[in-house]
Amino acid sequence: MKQTIAGIILILCCTFIWSCTPNKPLTQSEIVLIPMVQKMTLGESSFQFKKSTRLFVENTEQEAIAGQLTAKFEKAAGWKPEINVGGTEGSNQVYFRTDQTLADEAYSLEVQKDRIEIKAAKPAGFFYAMQTLRQLLPAEIESNQKQKNVDWLIPVISISDSPAFKWRGFELDVVRHFFPKEDVLRMIDNLAIHKINTLHLHLVDDQGWRIEIKKYPKLTEIGAWRVDREDKNWNKRPKQEAGEKATYGGFYTQEDIKEMVEYAQSRYITIVPEIEMPAHVTSALAAYPQYSCSGGPFTVLPGGVWPVTDIYCAGNDSTFLFLEGVLSEVIDLFPSKYIHIGGDEATKTEWEKCPKCKKRIKTEGLKNVGELQSYFIKRIEKFINSKNKVLLGWDEILEGGLPAEATVMSWRGYKGGIEAANQGHDVVMTPTSECYFDYYQGPKDQEPPAIGGFLPLKKVYEFNPIPPELSTEAAKHILGAQANLWTEYVPNIKHAEYMTFPRIAAMAEVLWSPKETRNWDDFLNRIQTFTKRYDQMGINYSKSAFKANTK
Ligand code: ACM
Ligand code: ZN
Repeated sequence: MKQTIAGIILILCCTFIWSCTPNKPLTQSEIVLIPMVQKMTLGESSFQFKKSTRLFVENTEQEAIAGQLTAKFEKAAGWKPEINVGGTEGSNQVYFRTDQTLADEAYSLEVQKDRIEIKAAKPAGFFYAMQTLRQLLPAEIESNQKQKNVDWLIPVISISDSPAFKWRGFELDVVRHFFPKEDVLRMIDNLAIHKINTLHLHLVDDQGWRIEIKKYPKLTEIGAWRVDREDKNWNKRPKQEAGEKATYGGFYTQEDIKEMVEYAQSRYITIVPEIEMPAHVTSALAAYPQYSCSGGPFTVLPGGVWPVTDIYCAGNDSTFLFLEGVLSEVIDLFPSKYIHIGGDEATKTEWEKCPKCKKRIKTEGLKNVGELQSYFIKRIEKFINSKNKVLLGWDEILEGGLPAEATVMSWRGYKGGIEAANQGHDVVMTPTSECYFDYYQGPKDQEPPAIGGFLPLKKVYEFNPIPPELSTEAAKHILGAQANLWTEYVPNIKHAEYMTFPRIAAMAEVLWSPKETRNWDDFLNRIQTFTKRYDQMGINYSKSAFKANTK
């Protein structure tokens, strides 16, 4: 009898110790990484982050990256592992090691029971390793509040990883609704965990001018503000009346821009500014009507406009001087190699009537207003190239002939992108059918109003940025792709999150993971678990996205 009791006690003790031991191995299906890594081999047992864990880095850039992870422990665990530059090896430590044989954004991650080794050639690789490491930790690591009873375990695992595409983008339209700096910083954080590396900010449109330009202060004094018609449908908003005050809007000061750029850089995200021309510029013309064909007057539009006819005058040299003044300040603020100049949806009826525009067509030997747009964009390209930047524009810039060095953003389907790639130009794919996140994502009767269309999660996941008709050579010009969030129907950041998440997770996997590893059913399982991380991060993701997964 005594022996039986002793046996039971022993079994209970063992069970207790087993259940308390942190080394419970995870199964493959419990590992939820988004985007899926290129190669991983799961071992047994786990590494445990503790207060005494040390991170050994080689330089200040790595230190800043490691610091982003330890800051998470400080909030979620209540303690912060130390970071050392150099030092002696010991157990329960994390090592950053530069390995020049790896590609720019690639990394390897070796997790063993008592050590973690991260290798990359460049800081970006270390940053992506850190995002993977973060996803291998319990979701509670994302919390801003101290968590109780969490073992901060990482499974023993070996990962080697690198992205499929260089351009992994997201566009935020900050014009149709303005998102203050803090909202943009929050979006940057939420994109970074998905290894998105480009944030395209649409800063100019008919409904607002969102960036301070010191040489032209009226752009924001006048152009950033419109009359408040938010209670009315976007397309049924009467224009500003005489004597009415424009109170709705906002803009980023140059100090705000610097802060956003720096914050994005620390998350290995490049902000690409878009300064629209020649159309979608009523906000600029409201401030400086002399750069239009008619001379105005104009008011900043509180809602939709179609067609877009109030555009910059292409016959007036002072228009180009103005734009060069604007672009000079923009170029000084954004380290991005690319400057987006818009170029979309210009209806050129004013150019057809304007004596100056007609004269320009004649003196330049152009056939028509289509070629005048090409003249306009080519002239701007010369200026942008003189500042060592590359002009990027919507696919309308193909019309009348592409500027020599331009990169094309293909939005009206794949056609423009195919044509540009075949001409030897670089391309970013953003076809409306797979990339427009302003489209509905769930059953329409359960959704807040959206612009129209239908882009369910599965369709994003099945997107292939490389059209099959391209030759291997031409396909090399496809830099990647981008999700675009236009915000006519998106009045605040919570709603912007709703439209962005979880679809950006599908886009991130399209752009990062090798095509062969992509599997919709597996992704659907992973993203549903991943939403626990979104909950901890406070992301207002769409639940209805999971109710409409047919094409
Ligand atoms: C666009 O959607 N007009 C680029
Ligand atoms: Zn004109």
